[in-house]
Amino acid sequence: MTKEPVVAILGATGAVGQEFIRLIEERKFPYSKLKLLASYRSAGKKLTVNGQEYTVEEAKPESFDGVDIGLFAGGSISKELGPEAAKRGCIVIDNSSTFRMDPNVPLVIPEVNPEDIAWHKGIIANPNCSTIIMLMALKPIHDLSPIKRIIVSTYQAVSGAGKEGIDELRDETEAYLKGEEMQPKILPSKSLPKHYPIAFNLIPQIDKFVEKDYTKEEMKMVNETHKMLHDDSIAITATTVRVPVFRSHAESVYVETADELSVDAVRKA
Ligand SMILES: NC(=O)c1ccc[n+]([C@@H]2O[C@H](COP(=O)([O-])OP(=O)(O)OC[C@H]3O[C@@H](n4cnc5c(N)ncnc54)[C@H](OP(=O)(O)O)[C@@H]3O)[C@@H](O)[C@H]2O)c1
Repeated sequence: MTKEPVVAILGATGAVGQEFIRLIEERKFPYSKLKLLASYRSAGKKLTVNGQEYTVEEAKPESFDGVDIGLFAGGSISKELGPEAAKRGCIVIDNSSTFRMDPNVPLVIPEVNPEDIAWHKGIIANPNCSTIIMLMALKPIHDLSPIKRIIVSTYQAVSGAGKEGIDELRDETEAYLKGEEMQPKILPSKSLPKHYPIAFNLIPQIDKFVEKDYTKEEMKMVNETHKMLHDDSIAITATTVRVPVFRSHAESVYVETADELSVDAVRKA
């Protein structure tokens, strides 16, 4: 029997890292050893996985010595630690946007384009959450007849903005209900100079505006779909909206295919 892998979770204290831990427990994901990594801020913090207590360590290049699988959810630190981990023989599954459009890195949804895993060179990128949700539904239709056009609108929870986004909705809601002033600091993007309240509000902007009046989040849906369906000719327009719920995104998707399909066939797919 082959040895169960040594697994490291980078960003274990964050919103995505916590979800990784929940899924590892729920799916009884096999590992012979588990390492929980984060920044110096969380080093020393205790987290429990499968009933066992772990001490969070500060992530450094050497943290990946002897690690087989690195589940990365540490944001921009992927740029430095991704190649360092891969150099040490670790297979990196990266949740950040760092490598998604790198032509040398496969961008994969296992249910959509598993064949692309085969050409990885140590790093496998995981797409944006809104792209994953959309393509999970569209790929079976694309297999019936090639998709030609997509018009998508999203309704995205604050969890997509990390633990700071979740805290912002909670803090603003509490302030509003007490009749106090809300103090937005994170949305639509921490790096922007102006912020808007999300409590009892909708923000039709996720991240910065990048090109042709589309935001970065909207262009991720376009570019990542082209890469994973291996077809740049699909016409796609996306409108992404932040909504005041803690977790779970929703989407409305209009789609056109090359051939006429019956609604029954689409439902079945
Ligand atoms: N693919 C998807 O579906 C999806 C969905 C949401 C988010 N994401 C991406 O996943 C990443 C994490 O998002 P999140 O929502 O979990 O963010 P988050 O809640 O803010 O958590 C960030 C995590 O990264 C750690 N971290 C930050 N800087 C670090 C550094 N310099 N070195 C080591 N660890 C560091 C933090 O550790 P501390 O506790 O020490 O600060 C924390 O554990 C982001 O790139 C985000 O865009 C992907």
